[in-house]
Amino acid sequence: MIKYPTTRPRRNRLSNWSRRLTSENSLSVNDLILPMFLLEGTKKKEQIHSMPGVFRYSLDELLKQIEIVVRSKIPLIALFPNIESDLKTPTGSEALNSKGVVPKAILMIKKEFPDLGLMTDIALDPYTTHGQDGLINEFGYVLNDQTVEILKKQALLHAQMGVDIVAPSDMMDGRVGAIRQALEDEKYFLTKIMSYSAKYASSFYNPFREAVGSTKNLKGFDKKSYQMNPANSEEALLEVELDINEGADMIMIKPGLPYLDIIQKIKEVYKIPTFAYQVSGEYSMIKSASINNYLDEKDVVLETLIAFKRAGCSGVLTYFALSATEWIKEEN
Ligand code: PBG
Repeated sequence: MIKYPTTRPRRNRLSNWSRRLTSENSLSVNDLILPMFLLEGTKKKEQIHSMPGVFRYSLDELLKQIEIVVRSKIPLIALFPNIESDLKTPTGSEALNSKGVVPKAILMIKKEFPDLGLMTDIALDPYTTHGQDGLINEFGYVLNDQTVEILKKQALLHAQMGVDIVAPSDMMDGRVGAIRQALEDEKYFLTKIMSYSAKYASSFYNPFREAVGSTKNLKGFDKKSYQMNPANSEEALLEVELDINEGADMIMIKPGLPYLDIIQKIKEVYKIPTFAYQVSGEYSMIKSASINNYLDEKDVVLETLIAFKRAGCSGVLTYFALSATEWIKEEN
C-alpha cells in the first residue's frame, strides 16, 4: 500500500538533478514548428500590431530569418501569406497563380534550405475578398465540394514547387482524400499532409486574421458552419478518423492550451503523429502579459510547451519557437 511516511513524493523533488531524472516528459528543439508570415515585394518587414515581436516579411527578408531558424535546428516552418487587397477575389483565384507569392517562396526556400522542412497552408482565406476559407454562395454559405476542387489544385501547385507538407486548414469535408488522390495521380507520392483535423471555431484566431489581412474582409461573419463547435470532443475523433482514412500523415488540433483534453483523447485512440497549434491569440495573451511584467514569458512559455508534450503531442506550432530554442538550451 502506498502511504505516508514510507512514501514521500517530495524526496524526488528535492534537487534539480533528481527532478530532471524523474521527469516524465521533456522538450527539445525537435518539438517546435515556427509559423511565418510572408508579404509581396522586397525589403519589407512589418510588425503585426496584435502580436508584438512577430513580423511579416517579404521573401528576401524572410530568407534571412529562415537562416536563423535553420541555425536553431527547428525542423519545420509553416508559411502563411498576406495577399495584397487588389489581388483578392471572391473565388480566391490568386491561390492558383503559379507565379504567386507562395509558389515563388516555396521554390526559393527549398533551393536555399533543402534540409529545412517546409509546410504551406491550404485554404483560401488570405486570397478571398470575403475572408472565408472557401467559395461562398449568395447567402454567404461556404460551399464544400466546389471549394475542395480548388484546394486540390492549390495543394498540387505547392507540391509541384517542392513543398514537403501541405496543411489543409479549411475544415471542408473530404478535402484530405481529394488532395491525397490528386497527389497520387500526379505522382507526388512523398508529399506529406498535416491535416488541421480538429480545428475549432475559435475566438483565439483574431491576431492571425490581422496578420494575413482578412479581419476587415470577414467582418460580421464567422466560420462556425465549417470549423468545430468548442463544446464538442467526440466529434474530434470522427474528424481525425476521417482524415487518417483519407490519407493524412500527421494531424493537428487547434487552438492549443484550451483543447489539451482533445489531444489526450485523440492520442488514446489513434497512433499518428499529433500536433497542437498554440495559436495567435494564445501568443498575444502571454506576450502582452509578459510585456506588462504580469507573467514571466520564458517560464510561462516553457510550461505551456511541456503541457502539450504531457498531453501527447509530437510537437507544437508556436510563434515562440525561436525564443523557445534558446530557453531550452538555457535550461539544459
Ligand atoms: C485559416 C487559418 C487560421 C489560422 C491558421 N489558418 C485562422 C482562421 O481559421 O480564421 C489561425 C492561426 C492562428 O491564430 O495563429 N485558414
